[in-house]
Amino acid sequence: MCSDLKKRMDENLETYDEVITDFENLYLFPAEVIVLDRFRDQWSRFDVLDIGVGVGRTAWVFSQNTKSYEAIDYAPKRIDQCHRLFAEAPDRKFSVGDARDLSGYPDGSFDFVLFSYNGIDYIDPEGREAAMAEIKRVLKPGGWFFFSSHSLDVFPFNPPVADKLRGILCPLGHLLRIRKRLKLQWRNRTVDVAEAKGRGWACLVDYADAMMTYYIDPARQVEQLEAMGYRIDATWDTKGRPLGEGIADEEWMIHYLVQKASS
Ligand SMILES: C[S@@+](CC[C@H](N)C(=O)[O-])C[C@H]1O[C@@H](n2cnc3c(N)ncnc32)[C@H](O)[C@@H]1O
Repeated sequence: MCSDLKKRMDENLETYDEVITDFENLYLFPAEVIVLDRFRDQWSRFDVLDIGVGVGRTAWVFSQNTKSYEAIDYAPKRIDQCHRLFAEAPDRKFSVGDARDLSGYPDGSFDFVLFSYNGIDYIDPEGREAAMAEIKRVLKPGGWFFFSSHSLDVFPFNPPVADKLRGILCPLGHLLRIRKRLKLQWRNRTVDVAEAKGRGWACLVDYADAMMTYYIDPARQVEQLEAMGYRIDATWDTKGRPLGEGIADEEWMIHYLVQKASS
């Protein structure tokens, strides 16, 4: 892998450690609500690891009624903030840690591992693979991994049809969206679209603080996960609609719920 790409993606850590006021609202994505409900009778038996916890958006809900809850983030200031926010909940454990090296946890430690809001996409491709392997290692047999990732389907950031229709109703909002997309297109003007689509993934400069971000074709992501031995349980788009049910190629974030084999 190009060392420049790795260097640029490693810089994402500095950005995350500087900007700790983002993701503070407690909004849950529809897929997260579905998963919380799906395991409602099992949380009390689950040991949960929340990776890339940020400033604790998921900690409020994914720690409720669990057998145990631990969270890590590689940005120390985010973990400091979690310690402040959860000072009165000492049973929720927060520490600095990197998804690529979970050596502090023995094999088969957790029933449920979460890496929400595309956190895994800020790791370089090799590191991402290492993180996936580490997560599988620390899961118990039959354990669950729930994460989301940017979809390559939105590249090269052309306006989706729905946006065009909304533009007629709300021209100002439409103009702002066009501006954002033009910015994204300009920032990624050197990326060969056909090559990226052929490979199934690409590292693109995102609008979020211009961080280098991994985008993957959902079908390719499923293949990768299956090759690692995961069973794909469900995939949802940003709005919580199961993939494959006539969803247009305009959803930027895909949620994956996968299970490690039981034996
Ligand atoms: C987009 S934020 C999401 C925060 C939180 N999970 C949420 O859903 O609100 C991604 C988080 O992943 C963390 N992160 C990225 N790469 C990581 C890694 N290799 N190990 C641990 N945390 C990481 C970042 O520091 C950041 O807090």
